[in-house]
Amino acid sequence: MIMNKSQADNCMASPSYYFNEYFKGQQASDLQSCYSFYTHKLPCTHYITRACNLNTTNTSIPYTMEAIRNDFPILRQRVNGNPLIWFDNGATTQKPLSVINTLSQYYREYNSNVHRGAHTMAVLATKAYEEARNKVQLFLGASSTEEIIFVRGATEAINLVSQAYGGANIQEGDEILLTEMEHHSNIVPWQVLAKQKGARIKVIPMNDKGEIILEEYRRLLTLRTKLVGITHVSNVLGTINPVEEMTRMAHDYGACVLIDGAQAAPHFKVNVKQIDADFYVFSGHKAYAPTGIGVLYGKKAILEAMPPWQTGGGMIKDVSFEKTDYNSLPDKFEAGTGNIADAIGLGAAIDYMNKLGLDQIEQRERTLTQYAMERISCLPDTFVFGNAVDKTSVISFIMKGISPVSIAKYLDQKGIAIRAGHHCAQPALRHFGVDSTARVSLGLYNTKNEIDILVYNLISIHKNGV
Ligand code: ALA
Repeated sequence: MIMNKSQADNCMASPSYYFNEYFKGQQASDLQSCYSFYTHKLPCTHYITRACNLNTTNTSIPYTMEAIRNDFPILRQRVNGNPLIWFDNGATTQKPLSVINTLSQYYREYNSNVHRGAHTMAVLATKAYEEARNKVQLFLGASSTEEIIFVRGATEAINLVSQAYGGANIQEGDEILLTEMEHHSNIVPWQVLAKQKGARIKVIPMNDKGEIILEEYRRLLTLRTKLVGITHVSNVLGTINPVEEMTRMAHDYGACVLIDGAQAAPHFKVNVKQIDADFYVFSGHKAYAPTGIGVLYGKKAILEAMPPWQTGGGMIKDVSFEKTDYNSLPDKFEAGTGNIADAIGLGAAIDYMNKLGLDQIEQRERTLTQYAMERISCLPDTFVFGNAVDKTSVISFIMKGISPVSIAKYLDQKGIAIRAGHHCAQPALRHFGVDSTARVSLGLYNTKNEIDILVYNLISIHKNGV
């Protein structure tokens, strides 16, 4: 079957040199059969178009894809002889040159500890570190920099909240509600706390499309509910949860809400005030920043009332052997020397995302998610998990008779990096009766051509095995 003109145009749009390079040496007929395969099956396109809730507003990014990709030197790497296609953005994103240069400049030109010195280097480092905090504040729409705590990542932020807030406010018989699609990092810290305190964890169920069942959530909320933990975007299903509505419902019962934004912050604009979140956490490395830096946002009044978590230097006002007065926010929660360079790197990553525009990134990624969903869903013997109406950037799937790890290994030989396994969200996978999936997770530099290459290889796996 020959593609029609609009399909052909679509497939060959933008960086076609890349596409051509990949397919060098392939038979034209192979390529054609790849497309004819899924263009045959348009009926499911309809369904997916609705499922992805595509906003058709025209918000085209003011930078060409070629320019964006040029900002990421690693994308020029070849892996196993093929151009690298990075579809493991849910695990970590690649870093733009501006972030890499910011780190290098810090260590080459003004490396110093912060807040502790009267010398020029300390002043420069402190200024850059606090400027980064200011960028995070604006990025999240928080009221002040006092509400922004630098931590190692989302996991550390949740551990901090569970021990410091939970330790002080959750008692025996209290209840903690967590959604069925939480990452382990928003489950295990609460289990530890529940065990320490004699509290109970209750699970907010999801339906088979991977959406929270709000009626069930409403039924679970009681005056015993002290904390609700919600992932903003599922790292396995891509579901965007209705966090604003869920937070309002929790607040009606006086419960505190923690939102795990690890898979949300890189993909669309977040506004913690609009959500009215009590706590919001995310990791820098999933948002084009270095590893080892992340953010805990907390409402000022709540953070002020909380005891500190880790203690030591930097978080004190005055120490004697009899007692210690703690520092004010945010220092009270930043004991010891922080990850100065990477916090400044996070500021550079935020500048980069702002330059492209979060709305534009969102629009482009939603379109790409829909494009990938249409094609992967239509492959034979392939099942995609997660058909939420509101969804972005993640496509998890299995192929009958071929393990997700085998799919990932095959694709790796073609230069394509995806993740296979339980994605640290075993309860979510168990809902669907599987213990492992192959996962494609998208970032701002991914293209339709890369999806085409992926689908071509998936067809080949289905036809010929791995
Ligand atoms: N939480 C990361 C992921 O989903 C590691 O891959």
